[in-house]
Amino acid sequence: MELAKRLSKLGTETAFAVSAEAAKHLEQGNTVYPFHLGDMNIKTPDNIIEATYKAMRDGKTGYCPNYGIPKLRQLVAEDINRSHGTDYTIDNVAIQPGGKPTISKFFMAMMNAGDEVLYPNPGYPIYESQIEFQGGLALPYTYHEGKDNFELDIDEIEKKITERTKLIVVNDLQNPTGAEASPQELEALADLSKRHDLFVLCDEAYFDIRYEGKSRSLASLPGMAERCLLLYTFSKKFAMTGWRLGATIGPKEVIDVIAKLNVNDESCSNHFIQYGAIEALTGDQSGAREIVNTLQARRDITVSMLNSIDGVRCYKPNATFYLFPNVTDLMKRKGFDDYGQFRKAALRETGVSFCTRLHFGRPLPGESQLYIRFAYSGIDVDDIKEGLTRFKKWLES
Ligand SMILES: Cc1ncc(COP(=O)(O)O)c(C=O)c1O
Repeated sequence: MELAKRLSKLGTETAFAVSAEAAKHLEQGNTVYPFHLGDMNIKTPDNIIEATYKAMRDGKTGYCPNYGIPKLRQLVAEDINRSHGTDYTIDNVAIQPGGKPTISKFFMAMMNAGDEVLYPNPGYPIYESQIEFQGGLALPYTYHEGKDNFELDIDEIEKKITERTKLIVVNDLQNPTGAEASPQELEALADLSKRHDLFVLCDEAYFDIRYEGKSRSLASLPGMAERCLLLYTFSKKFAMTGWRLGATIGPKEVIDVIAKLNVNDESCSNHFIQYGAIEALTGDQSGAREIVNTLQARRDITVSMLNSIDGVRCYKPNATFYLFPNVTDLMKRKGFDDYGQFRKAALRETGVSFCTRLHFGRPLPGESQLYIRFAYSGIDVDDIKEGLTRFKKWLES
């Protein structure tokens, strides 16, 4: 048997390997404090579950349109228009089985072999994987430590652009750093995209996971809706990671291609879950509010406990459920110069499980600072306190 040669270019989410190690540690009778995966241990609100049951009982168990059911498409367009100030219609929305499928379909629809694509690194690893798997050239851009959070250097991004650069991936409210573009950064990104005629994937998976202030989108800026494809997902804002439901929003011409890809890939997204999603968008919103409140309490304690550890520097992002503390001094003090060794020792000695910078793209030349990623979406406040107390004690011993 000979597997396809292009598979050598296919990446993965190596964070899943960290989960497997944590599960093994647990099986051996140890306690694990799971900060490694961006999954949630919060239940989907009951009204969404009930509406989905009802749809199943009502016979919504066959195929549905490849674009998704019209009512849900309409509601997603309205939801985006409310928060983004855009004027999308049902024609601009294709329902997807999750947020993630928008990524591969974006490249299938917009990228030719040999095109260069700017993408964030550290960043969600699926961009790099899909760009390379589909024959593009991945051009990483990075984040820098700023006053209150990580920041982009727009001039640095612009210097990477050549006549072959066609696309840019923007994951504002970012995984893994928690970075959020300022209005000035968004303006500069919009300006750069227009001047260099770049089409944009706006990954907005965390748009509604927000504790203070208001989320902003690149697609809201003048002239940008026609050059942006939005990744929208029900996974995080309604704690529906395992349900697999999301949407792609953008110019009709692109959405029609995306819907054709839907036919080829999965025919349609799960039919009855779309009725649960209608309830999510139109029904009682207290469940969604409760999710954000729960996450906020976790963020506050995690940030303050991490910053109390000698040698750790951690921002307090207003959105997402990720923290990306700088641990350069800490690792040096404890005699670690290898991320993997540090991570495994922490799990072994304290049960605290986390990802490192290495799980979010290939490190860039000249990178000197060391970072780890803490996700607090899958761990309760009491366990955060217990785990980080052990972690601190070990690190300061
Ligand atoms: C930045 C980013 N984009 C997309 C996704 C995929 O979301 P979904 O689970 O809805 O497919 C994730 C999931 O963690 C993510 O972090």
